[in-house]
Amino acid sequence: MGVRPDHPGAPPAISARRIVKRFPGVVANDCVDVDLRRGEVHALLGENGAGKSTLAAVLCGLYVPEEGELLIDGVRTVLHSPRDGLARGIGMVHQHFRLIDRFTVAENVVLGDRTQSWRLRPDRIEDAVAEIAETYGLPLDPSAHIGDLSVGQRQRVEIVKTLYQGARILLLDEPTSVLTPQEADALFATVRSMTAAGRTVVFISHKLGEVLEIADRVTVMRDGRVTGDVDTDSTTREELARMMVGREVDLSPRRARAAAREPMLRVEGLTLTRGGVTSVDGVDLEVRAGEILGIAGVSGNGQRELADLIAGVEAPTAGRITVSGTEVTGRGPRAARAAGLAYVPEDRLGTGLAPALSMVDNMLLTRPRSFLLDRRAARAEARDIIERFEVKTTGPDAPAGLMSGGNAQKVLIARELDSTDGEHTARVLVAASPTRGLDVGAIETVWGILDGARARGEAILLISEDLEEVLAISDRIVVLSEGRLVHETTAAAASREAIGLAMAGVTP
Ligand SMILES: Nc1ncnc2c1ncn2[C@@H]1O[C@H](COP(=O)(O)OP(=O)(O)OP(=O)(O)O)[C@@H](O)[C@H]1O
Ligand SMILES: [Mg+2]
Repeated sequence: MGVRPDHPGAPPAISARRIVKRFPGVVANDCVDVDLRRGEVHALLGENGAGKSTLAAVLCGLYVPEEGELLIDGVRTVLHSPRDGLARGIGMVHQHFRLIDRFTVAENVVLGDRTQSWRLRPDRIEDAVAEIAETYGLPLDPSAHIGDLSVGQRQRVEIVKTLYQGARILLLDEPTSVLTPQEADALFATVRSMTAAGRTVVFISHKLGEVLEIADRVTVMRDGRVTGDVDTDSTTREELARMMVGREVDLSPRRARAAAREPMLRVEGLTLTRGGVTSVDGVDLEVRAGEILGIAGVSGNGQRELADLIAGVEAPTAGRITVSGTEVTGRGPRAARAAGLAYVPEDRLGTGLAPALSMVDNMLLTRPRSFLLDRRAARAEARDIIERFEVKTTGPDAPAGLMSGGNAQKVLIARELDSTDGEHTARVLVAASPTRGLDVGAIETVWGILDGARARGEAILLISEDLEEVLAISDRIVVLSEGRLVHETTAAAASREAIGLAMAGVTP
């Protein structure tokens, strides 16, 4: 927990009063009040589309609200731009990074600093970057090129940049959504050292566990409004979930209620070697009708490649893939789909949804030809998904690209997991991190859909870095480490420790 150097009676570092920010068709922030105190970690918690990123954008000067006011250290202030915000010590690390690949870490850090960058000598900049990195536990090589860095390292660059620009108040927008559990722990240590030094951190998230772990206070938002403002010491997961979603949420484990039947997906000796690197290494697995096989592992251990191979997006170097008795190895995604395979890829916006198209057109993209003609059915399906997944959108004809990140994911997942194309009674579903970036209400819905598909006799391969999720809904669990399956257990007999060690590459 952060220390709180605020003495009683000192004004908050920033107060937002009755903030209203509208977009065409939505009130993203609807009369929002929030107080940020010096030295605290203040979480903004809320479902997808609740208005968190919008509020942060108002607080840092990126959006000027239509109504309401900001008080900085008790003084009414209008921020016209992020530069204005930075001049008053407020900086934001965005959900999507804004770095330039071919520049070095140090160059990116000083980029946009019009006041002095041209005067600074490169070695001084590197020293300054190294010093900030050292102070806050953000190990970085100032001369490395951004293009060569991992996502976690790029995030460090963004944080160092914000600190370099003099931010006392740092707004971190869903910083852990791109991190491995180990990287998230390192980030939490950094956050603690920043607040210990008197800085304020706004931590945006929809993960209850991490909010309770890192934050001193939480402001909960729903549909653009504040629904709660509590100390983390005096609240619970259940209370936070209720304030977020507006109803009780059930995230208790779900297992198959009947024995698994015939194998639907069979993978034998699957291997992918590219440029001398073997990312999938002799994987054998079988998923039966009526079961969920969970693949646990730290991201980057071959998950993406394995899923792409099974879905036919990529051709294997060796091995065989059979879907519902039809061999589909190397025959491409259409053949896999025709054999009864549905695929929710990890990179959803990159490969799954066309941002310029409406939700209705996105529904039609993967449908058989006859369906193409039937816009009425597609629109009805889109409306059904909007309702059941509580998708925040102005309607089925709005472009997918305007939806908040989480809402776009809901649409894609619903389209794949919930499609009913008549003929196939039993199908194979490959779901890569199906709930990453989703809020608890949507997670409950997705788990319910997977559970329902299992009960109907579908065979489901769940690939997820989220060990909690794998443990909660799988019947059998295997661990993928460096492209190999290294540990297998039934969910009933699963040991969190053994799985964790296998994930970390420790073999008994
Ligand atoms: N630039 C924009 N143009 C139009 N609508 C927008 C824009 N930015 C946000 N919205 C809408 O405003 C609402 C709030 O969005 P916001 O991005 O603030 O939500 P969020 O809480 O950050 O969600 P997520 O968890 O999915 O990131 C959503 O309905 C979203 O579609
Ligand atoms: Mg957001």
